[in-house]
Amino acid sequence: MPKILFRNALSLLTLFCLMRIDIITVLPEMLESPLNCSILKRAQDKGLVEICVHNLRDFTTNKHRKVDDYPFGGEAGMVMQIQPVDACISMLREQRHYDEVIFVTPDGETFNQKTANSLSLAENIIILCGHYKGIDYRIREHLVTREISIGDYVLTGGELPAAIIADSIVRLIPGAIGDEQSALSDSFQDNLLAPPVYTRPAEYKGWKVPEILLSGHQAKIDEWKHEQALERTRRLRPDLLGDE
Ligand code: ADE
Repeated sequence: MPKILFRNALSLLTLFCLMRIDIITVLPEMLESPLNCSILKRAQDKGLVEICVHNLRDFTTNKHRKVDDYPFGGEAGMVMQIQPVDACISMLREQRHYDEVIFVTPDGETFNQKTANSLSLAENIIILCGHYKGIDYRIREHLVTREISIGDYVLTGGELPAAIIADSIVRLIPGAIGDEQSALSDSFQDNLLAPPVYTRPAEYKGWKVPEILLSGHQAKIDEWKHEQALERTRRLRPDLLGDE
């Protein structure tokens, strides 16, 4: 496609595809670098996505900017308070409709490619990062619409999970990565692991690239890639094929 036409197509896409992700956190500095490098940075520069990080402390009515307090019932640890979270989410909701208000938590539904695919179609989402012992449960009952875990382990806070979710969503937005085909051939897109990839040189220390990839015979190459994807999935993640 001529470059100028392609650019126009991309800016048209931008008009329709603009997504907004708002992340609420007590540690905005923790998100700075993951959100401002590589594909996430390029997608924002191209106007495909707007990612706004909000410091929860800016929304507290506490004069010491405290956002946590002791739990009722005498457990150890501090609990994130409802007031600043409600103030931040209400401010955002006054400005636009949100498809989801996601709380990242180890006891949420486990994040996977299917969830990333469906969230990449959303227009506006909020991701709320927890900290301390947890958040006042009323936030989960009344303000949050979805709870997501990135795996069965406990992290110090929700910032890394939020960055991971944002990354996996944004790379799926049309135009975010140069060759859209490569997002579709990611591992997990068809419940299959990706086939192996190689680059030059074709031989290094006697270690050779599979002959078929150098053959120029595209149909055979595609068939080989599919077989490799199947073989790797069967060997490494049989659960994805449902034949564990
Ligand atoms: N916060 C702490 N651990 C987490 C996890 N595994 N997933 C999502 N949020 C978290």
